[in-house]
Amino acid sequence: MKLACVILAAGLGKRMKSSLPKVLHTLCGRPMLRHVLDNAGRLRPEKRIVVVGKYHEEISRSASGPAISFVVQEKPKGTGDALMKAGEALGRFRGTVLVLNGDTPLIAPETLRRFLSLFSKNGDALSVLSFTTRHPEGYGRIVRDDSGKPRRIIEEKAATAEQKMIMEVNGGIYAVDSKIMPLLARIRRNPASGEYYLTDLFEIAMREKLRAGVYCICGEDEMMGVNTRHELLRAERIMQTRIVNGLIRKGVTFIDPSSAHIGADVSIGADAVIYPNVCLEGATRIGRQCTVYPNVRIVGSTIGDGATIKDCSVIEHSAVKRNAQIGPFAHLRPGTIVGARAKIGNFVEVKKSVIGEGTKASHLSYLGDAVVGRNVNIGAGTITCNYDGAQKHRTEIDDGVFIGSDTQLVAPVKIGKGAYIGAGSTVTKDVPPMSLAVSRTPQKNILKWAQRKQHNENRRHSKKTFRRRPRTGD
Ligand code: UD1
Ligand code: CA
Repeated sequence: MKLACVILAAGLGKRMKSSLPKVLHTLCGRPMLRHVLDNAGRLRPEKRIVVVGKYHEEISRSASGPAISFVVQEKPKGTGDALMKAGEALGRFRGTVLVLNGDTPLIAPETLRRFLSLFSKNGDALSVLSFTTRHPEGYGRIVRDDSGKPRRIIEEKAATAEQKMIMEVNGGIYAVDSKIMPLLARIRRNPASGEYYLTDLFEIAMREKLRAGVYCICGEDEMMGVNTRHELLRAERIMQTRIVNGLIRKGVTFIDPSSAHIGADVSIGADAVIYPNVCLEGATRIGRQCTVYPNVRIVGSTIGDGATIKDCSVIEHSAVKRNAQIGPFAHLRPGTIVGARAKIGNFVEVKKSVIGEGTKASHLSYLGDAVVGRNVNIGAGTITCNYDGAQKHRTEIDDGVFIGSDTQLVAPVKIGKGAYIGAGSTVTKDVPPMSLAVSRTPQKNILKWAQRKQHNENRRHSKKTFRRRPRTGD
């Protein structure tokens, strides 16, 4: 069976009350439209055509990909008009056209496969995927006759009180034989809304004595349409539960699954432990046997096997290698690579730097634009002064270096292999290997200074007491 997918995404999404197009609102970190496109892609269609409207630039920018094309529906004149626009892009395509709503992101590809096989097995010209719900408000109702045969789809606004009681609703997913695409031109403008409803195609097909089927083969959790932020929230919960359950099945431990936020593109290895309130976003990869403690946010990063990310740390677009330790309260900014067994401790910020294997920066430091070798010790309060107000400069620290606490490394600067920097130094010149650099002023001890200070203070105090006259009336 030849297959083309059409995704309707040209609606304004007014009910979201947002300046962002509805289909670009994210679900578990991925735009809704992306979920729909990925589901469609699993069916290996010849084409994926997205019908876009007012927001065509934003949408085509964020949802482009191989074999995806965009068709512009200038005015949102309804779902029927949208499919007709896609028809122009289908050109000479002959086969099955699977139509998907851009706001129905939870559908499983397996359900779509079953739906398509019913379509072809029954020789339908048009099939509709329906579902039953206890809250049919807003959906088109499937009207069946006394024998249970579907007759038409009636939109909420046009439904009688009796029809509104129908619990079987249109899921907004259709399989259409390309031969009947010309029938779309027969859809009449709905007098109440002024739109051309795709749902009217069902009745038209029936009138033409074509085979048209309605299949109720999955639950509401796959079929719900997202029109409002409340619905987006519900869809988010459903998808989040699916993601977490999938990871648990693969051997991941969640201490409190209900508080975890795991993006749709995240992977986690077996025997990893995820504590409460952890947010894993973007294409983050967590290795096997990692522990991620509470309140950690990791975005688009790779964490090697056995690494530990302690509480309240933020890791953005960085890589942490095997058995390294990060945090608590550490911040790895984009472009950072932390080597195996290295340690980045409390209140340490690292930006666009490479930290070698076994190196330790345990407390209160800033390392920016630095290349740090292996087994280096970075003392507390070390700062790479990488910015001169106009440009960023590099700091290079070779293997085995010891940087004493409270050191400022004024970049560009190189510290040679095995060198030592005395605590409290401001290093402005390169330090040769195996040497010691100290730049602090030599200590001066002023003997008995405190004694003299005490003596002077006592004298001042006694003069004041002597001068004070008692107030009358006391
Ligand atoms: C639609 C169906 C309804 C079904 C429900 C399932 C119609 C008339 N109604 O209602 O029977 O129960 O989906 O979720 O089809 N769109 C366009 N161009 C337009 C209008 C809409 O591309 O001119 C796109 C939207 O971006 C959206 C999809 O079509 O992705 C559905 O439109 P929406 O306005 O959400 O329809 P519903 O009222 O939910
Ligand atoms: Ca909808």
